[in-house]
Amino acid sequence: MFLPHFALIGLSILVIFVINVTAQTKPVWSTKQTPFQGAKRVSKTWTYQSAKAHGNVTYADPYVWMEDPIESNPDIQEFVNNQMQLTKSYLDKCTNFDQITQSIRNAYDYDDYDDMWLFDVDVKEPFYIYSTRGANDSLRTFHLASVPEMELAKKKEFLVEAMLSENSTSSLITWNISPDLKTFAYLVTEEGTDTGTWYFRKLDSPLVNPKTRPPGGEDRLPDVIPSCDGGIFWNENSSAFFYTQLNNPEGGRNTDIGSRVRHHIFGTSYEKDITVVHPDPDQNIFWGISGSEDFRWLYVTAIKDADMKSVAYATLLTGQTLSDTMKWISLSPSYDYTFNILSTKNDYLYIQTDKHALDGKVSKLKLDWSKARQVKKLSELKDQVKMTDIIPEKHFALLAQAWVVATDKIMLFYVMDGRVKMFYHHLHTGKLIQEVLPNESSTLYGIYSCDVKSNTMILALTSTTSPKKIYQLQLSEKTTEVSQLLLTQIKGTNPSDYVTEQLEATSKDGTKVPYFIVHRKGKKRDGTSPAIMHVYGFYGSLEDLYFDSSLFSWMTSYDGIIVWAGIRGGSERGQEWHLAGSRDNKPKTFDDAIAVAQDLIARKIAAPGKVIGHGYSGGGMTVAVAAHQAPQNVFGAMLCGYGVLDAFLLARSRIGGFQVSEIGDPKIPKDFDSIYAYSPLQNLSPKKQYPPILVTFGDSDERVVPGHGLKYIAQIQEMHPNSTTPLLMDLISAAAHREASTTTEQLVSMAANQHCFTQLSMGLTRQK
Ligand SMILES: *[C@@H]1O[C@H](CO)[C@@H](O)[C@H](O)[C@H]1NC(C)=O
Ligand SMILES: *[C@@H]1O[C@H](CO)[C@@H](O)[C@H](O)[C@H]1NC(C)=O
Ligand SMILES: *[C@@H]1O[C@H](CO)[C@@H](O)[C@H](O)[C@H]1NC(C)=O
Ligand SMILES: *[C@@H]1O[C@H](CO)[C@@H](O)[C@H](O)[C@H]1NC(C)=O
Ligand SMILES: *[C@@H]1O[C@H](CO)[C@@H](O)[C@H](O)[C@H]1NC(C)=O
Ligand SMILES: *[C@@H]1O[C@H](CO)[C@@H](O)[C@H](O)[C@H]1NC(C)=O
Repeated sequence: MFLPHFALIGLSILVIFVINVTAQTKPVWSTKQTPFQGAKRVSKTWTYQSAKAHGNVTYADPYVWMEDPIESNPDIQEFVNNQMQLTKSYLDKCTNFDQITQSIRNAYDYDDYDDMWLFDVDVKEPFYIYSTRGANDSLRTFHLASVPEMELAKKKEFLVEAMLSENSTSSLITWNISPDLKTFAYLVTEEGTDTGTWYFRKLDSPLVNPKTRPPGGEDRLPDVIPSCDGGIFWNENSSAFFYTQLNNPEGGRNTDIGSRVRHHIFGTSYEKDITVVHPDPDQNIFWGISGSEDFRWLYVTAIKDADMKSVAYATLLTGQTLSDTMKWISLSPSYDYTFNILSTKNDYLYIQTDKHALDGKVSKLKLDWSKARQVKKLSELKDQVKMTDIIPEKHFALLAQAWVVATDKIMLFYVMDGRVKMFYHHLHTGKLIQEVLPNESSTLYGIYSCDVKSNTMILALTSTTSPKKIYQLQLSEKTTEVSQLLLTQIKGTNPSDYVTEQLEATSKDGTKVPYFIVHRKGKKRDGTSPAIMHVYGFYGSLEDLYFDSSLFSWMTSYDGIIVWAGIRGGSERGQEWHLAGSRDNKPKTFDDAIAVAQDLIARKIAAPGKVIGHGYSGGGMTVAVAAHQAPQNVFGAMLCGYGVLDAFLLARSRIGGFQVSEIGDPKIPKDFDSIYAYSPLQNLSPKKQYPPILVTFGDSDERVVPGHGLKYIAQIQEMHPNSTTPLLMDLISAAAHREASTTTEQLVSMAANQHCFTQLSMGLTRQK
């Protein structure tokens, strides 16, 4: 099935602006016209124990007062105002600023299709459910459409989110459908939190134009369950289900107190629901629940840390009366490894785990009911379970996701060389059937439709040139047939006009570092192009090949190149790649970023001095350190967003504890030496010449507080009163960390300032 009509979405108005503007070719920065203002210095110092110095090291922190909340300190406000005036006086020199802004806004202007499911198991007429959100809308509309209706591109509305409350402030956290395909269960939040109220309505009772707007919407079923955080496991005949609920429903959203597992029978009041697993007062556990396809087993799992290591327990639902004194068995008793439940076949449980497998594997284990015991708390169960590997670990390829499909097959998603690769396997033998979509230069956005019993799977990819590509896979014994359901594209552009290529740079220590470049088809490599290089390199995250409106607009406007640098600290080559760029190895992250930039120049992909460093958060630190350490004439400008610029301030902050596995703990002498050698604020020098630097951050960022950017800018300007390059800051007001609670207009304005900054400081010429 191929639905070409979807390819037209977003293309209905095809307007191409081709206006040639000759931009400034000479840098227009001078401290003679606009001197740096300077700021008060205080005599604060910090002392840490150093292993290298065999004693204490003390450093000065003269701008420490800038760590206060901005609104609490008039001196900081004055500094901010002066800086913003300086930045504005520079950016005002972009005579084409409106054009820059419009181009970025266009790159945000597309309809977002999401969460697309096909229900085709045991049903005469299969149907789709999916959501859409217009470019400027914050709430979604859900649609229900039969297969012929989808093919005719009819959008039959099923539930309009704005109708869920009087003032249109409610939204869906998650939803699911009962096994008999008659009831739509939806978890609604009033405040955009992860906790809400379950409501239910019949699938033949849409919520589109109601007369009234009671909470949960008109014409819903009477069942209401408050204070829930997600999981539902239905029984076979859709008459009841298990769910998880915060301990104290009346307590609102007190997230410190864990959750319990309960059982609800339709048509009864939730107050009478039976609790089958109580909260563990010592552990603040938030339970996840799921069950076997044959409805015989109920599983509960819990994690307690970002490392996702899990406990897991199971109970048999046949032959026991539901209560809080049922017998249970342990599957994973002590947070030693990840435990992701995939499927149950004949009392064998298939899981994805990293037990003795850093990069993950698929294993199975026997559900042994002879071990079942009645306990007060599940944590009393300590039995270990023997696992058999089905699909062993692939070294240097992270098993990101695994889904059992078509009854006895499994779809595996690996991160290999920065690319997401999909493999279709037999579940029981582990044998590979086929690689799926081998030539995709995209990254996984999400798995949508995926039922163990269905032969259909729907998944969404995102790529540098298209926000979303949705594929439907028809799964059979020997093959997968792939059809494209949807391709979103930006007005006036076509993804097939661009190419993506993977290359490798050689880092300082000889390690090969993968990276991608994306540019217009047919572009010459003559060493004259500007390139914008996105970096991250933290927490084993993958930041490659996704759609970024700002980068896309910049590439199309300046005929430039987008570079995704797969530097160490990310997961481009598995967990090993993360560890190779964390803690003591953190400097490798920065070496790799410089190596990729130099490689672009050596291959004549980018012009010398025309590589722009671009990174957010940890990536902002990578950008700053690269600016400090790279030789002259590599970087043309540095765009540092929400950047960690004082690693010691980060360590002292509320989230400092989470950074220990990533950069170390400065209170440990050896770690201090490592951090002190690169932390941007402590490594500025009056002797070094820096490329143009624009430091952008949010005034309400609690994760990377404004003090990072403010102190850095004060220090670098103080050291370079006669700088020949602009060293500026841009504060976004009423904005938190990264995209969290940042509006599209704020993102557009931030990006426009960045584009204008690169145009002015590098003398770039805008093509259109
Ligand atoms: C070294 O610094 C630590 C604090 O980091 C302090 O507790 C200790 O007294 C200092 N030692 C000396 C000899 O100054
Ligand atoms: C969204 O808003 C922007 C700016 O207000 C406008 O230019 C654009 O046309 C709007 N897009 C849609 C689809 O309404
Ligand atoms: C919207 O309505 C809900 C429930 O009636 C209420 O709790 C909330 O404060 C209202 N929000 C606004 C922004 O008016
Ligand atoms: C539905 O299933 C439950 C057990 O899961 C059983 O107790 C109940 O009688 C069933 N109801 C109907 C209407 O079949
Ligand atoms: C993928 O690319 C290779 C090499 O360019 C080509 O031979 C192959 O047919 C392509 N496969 C698909 C499924 O497009
Ligand atoms: C900056 O320029 C002024 C005036 O030309 C000069 O007096 C001063 O020494 C310079 N400062 C530095 C650090 O070079």
